[in-house]
Amino acid sequence: MFIKSPLNYTGNKYRILPQITKYFPKHTKVFVDMFCGGATVGFNVDADKVILIDNNPRVINLLKFLAEKDIHVIISKIEKVIKEYNLSYSYKYTYKKYRDEGYVVGNNGLKKYNEKGFYKLREDYNKLLNKNTDKANIMLYTLMVYAFNNDIRFNSMGDFNLPVGKTDFNKNNYNKLIAYNNRAKETKYEFICSDFRSKKVSNIINKASFVYCDPPYLITTAVYNENDGWNCDKEEHLLKLLSKIAKRNIPFALSNVLKTKLKTNIQLESWINENNYDVHKINYHYKSSSYNKKNRDREEQEIIVTGGAADEASDK
Ligand SMILES: C[S@@+](CC[C@H](N)C(=O)[O-])C[C@H]1O[C@@H](n2cnc3c(N)ncnc32)[C@H](O)[C@@H]1O
Repeated sequence: MFIKSPLNYTGNKYRILPQITKYFPKHTKVFVDMFCGGATVGFNVDADKVILIDNNPRVINLLKFLAEKDIHVIISKIEKVIKEYNLSYSYKYTYKKYRDEGYVVGNNGLKKYNEKGFYKLREDYNKLLNKNTDKANIMLYTLMVYAFNNDIRFNSMGDFNLPVGKTDFNKNNYNKLIAYNNRAKETKYEFICSDFRSKKVSNIINKASFVYCDPPYLITTAVYNENDGWNCDKEEHLLKLLSKIAKRNIPFALSNVLKTKLKTNIQLESWINENNYDVHKINYHYKSSSYNKKNRDREEQEIIVTGGAADEASDK
């Protein structure tokens, strides 16, 4: 059964997992999720070992922390932060309680109740000198849960910069956390914070049984593209790296967007044609929100490219 990541990561693959995992082997020895983001893909594959790589240290540290710490300790620490910053806790006290008390105004959810505490928590988190302590990870998780769209986002200075959101530590967030922590006990997970061009990553993928890549897309924009964003050089480097492992018969799958209404990723298109890799179209049904409507209007065609014996791998 597929689980949702406790991180509501922009561009996460949850909705299309059934479509992309069918190009993966049924079971892998060492599966590498090279641009893991919220770990949605890596945490939903059947493997002896999954190596999750991303160059965002905050995200990797948080994923590792939420996977490896005792769940009771995590929850009691979150509860302590909720209390200290006077935040709502609808999983424990019910949403109705806050509504009856007049804190839910219009369609702003719990925003009014949490505004003051959230901004104080954000200020205190951004002031921390060491962002890789248990305390920092708990503060970051809590910030995310109370932030706009439950999202996680930093400015170029590394400060968490989202405004307060409408929701809180509710049943949904609670259940995602438990499912993720439980899943972490079923498989061996390794979390690596590194740029994909490093020697370390090169060594890892050379020993992998399957490599999945979901990099930022060259012809679309996303938050992780903002600071020191994705560019043609990085794209070139990645494509060369994948051809190299494919030649060594290590299968790979690459998620991407080949065309939008206005642009074509020519680099990607010629690489696919030159190497005769297989392209599979992903059917992404965007629903009604304005963000999604924007995407629909752009007519992006999401694809998954497979190579290096990946097709045979999916039949195993
Ligand atoms: C499209 S997102 C991945 C989303 C992920 N598949 C999920 O389901 O949540 C791309 C990720 O690539 C990471 N990234 C960007 N540049 C990178 C680089 N040079 N090396 C490693 N990771 C990078 C970003 O931090 C981001 O998390």
